Amino acid sequence: MSLTPQVPLAALFVAALINLTLLRAEDASKPSEALTFPLSQRAKELIPEVQQKVMKKVEEQFGTPSHPIVPEGIPVEKTVVLKGQTVYSLHCARCHGEAGTGAGPEAKALQPQPRDFRRGVFKWKSTSIAQRPLRHDLRETIRLGVPDTAMPGFPKFSEADAKSVVEYVRWLSMAGEFQVRLVDEFYSDFSIAMLKNEIREGKKEKEVIANAIKVIVEILPEVSTDSLKRISDDWKSAELETSILRPKSALASTSDAAVQRGRELFTSLKVRCNLCHGETGKGDGIVTRDFWPIPGDSLNRKYAEPGLHNVWGQVNQPWDLAKGKMRGGDSPEDLFRRIAAGISGTQMPGFGGSFLTEAEIWDVVSYVQSLPSEKPKTKSIRQPPPQGATAK
Ligand code: HEC
Ligand code: HEC
Repeated sequence: MSLTPQVPLAALFVAALINLTLLRAEDASKPSEALTFPLSQRAKELIPEVQQKVMKKVEEQFGTPSHPIVPEGIPVEKTVVLKGQTVYSLHCARCHGEAGTGAGPEAKALQPQPRDFRRGVFKWKSTSIAQRPLRHDLRETIRLGVPDTAMPGFPKFSEADAKSVVEYVRWLSMAGEFQVRLVDEFYSDFSIAMLKNEIREGKKEKEVIANAIKVIVEILPEVSTDSLKRISDDWKSAELETSILRPKSALASTSDAAVQRGRELFTSLKVRCNLCHGETGKGDGIVTRDFWPIPGDSLNRKYAEPGLHNVWGQVNQPWDLAKGKMRGGDSPEDLFRRIAAGISGTQMPGFGGSFLTEAEIWDVVSYVQSLPSEKPKTKSIRQPPPQGATAK
């Protein structure tokens, strides 16, 4: 999905008349007025009448980024979400955008790009690859930042600011996903391309549109309720103790023997970390030189640049493990989680479950930790998640 620019819907008509650049510059300085959720690329490809109904539903359920509403049953603490919006607008929106699309005014120049929160996909978490992150995980990311990227840490946030901004990021993510789900639901039947097809087949445009509206009005309430339930279930189930990935034992040994076993696994035919990370872990594996197909592209096109790509469509180089600085935390337990669960939204697969035993993963951790020739000056260590279910 491509990123949508931060132009408020209401302003789109005005934008046609006046200089768009001027308008966007003004947006950046006055972010909170008349701010609505921007349309995703796919939403723009819907028949405009259907698009309007979808966006009206989004606003009915979630309000707007500046005036958030928490729909019934959605696991976001209502009492702090507004405060979270203020904190977010002040500290985060310049990169992540007021509506969490990842397209804030400073985003263009950054690599990797700020996260687009709208699919609920987060990288640094203690749950399994398909699951949502814990509140705790988002909080740790915000506290520590993401080393070696533009994402700064905010270690000085008060307890209240940290808590509220986490709730607001969750809310942005759920609101974004709600739009994505509604659009996905109607895309195959009610896209502009479909409309054109039907006209070509001899149907009248007016009738096709009238029929589309009729169907949407009929099924939108149910689709909306179902989508909210799915979103709510996904975020709630992540917070259950059973969803949290915890190594049963601690790192057993960093002995030469453990490092050697880890090195062998790293390049073994079964595991093949080297395909991506290269023979010595520098992130220069053979896959980084190939041109990869764009997943789901109807014309089977390939990306313009060589190398792996993430789900946000950006080049995604395997990390240079010899750098001695991880983004998701430097402790053995942090590494265990990354290797066991993989990294959501990226090509880094998980090796846990029935693939590698815990002892084998710890050996790989020992090897990875032995790679940097210099020990890093500062370490970023994530607190392990608290015990027990924490869902609200
Ligand atoms: C200067 C730009 C910048 C600012 C300011 C910023 N971020 Fe980020 N943020 C980023 C970038 C870049 C990434 C992507 C890092 C990556 O992919 O490794 C990111 C990633 C994230 C993630 C995703 C982590 C994951 O697990 O995938 C969260 C959550 C996040 N930021 C929250 C925030 C919050 C909350 C604030 C404000 C308190 C904030 N950011 C401020 C640039 C920024
Ligand atoms: C199919 C390619 C692929 C394979 C195979 C692979 N990785 Fe990765 N790995 C990646 C990519 C891509 C990233 C960067 C993800 C991102 O954008 O954050 C990554 C990131 C990492 C990170 C960095 C985590 C951080 O916090 O920054 C570690 C550690 C890692 N991989 C270890 C391994 C190990 C160990 C193996 C084998 C057991 C392995 N990887 C196999 C593609 C791969």
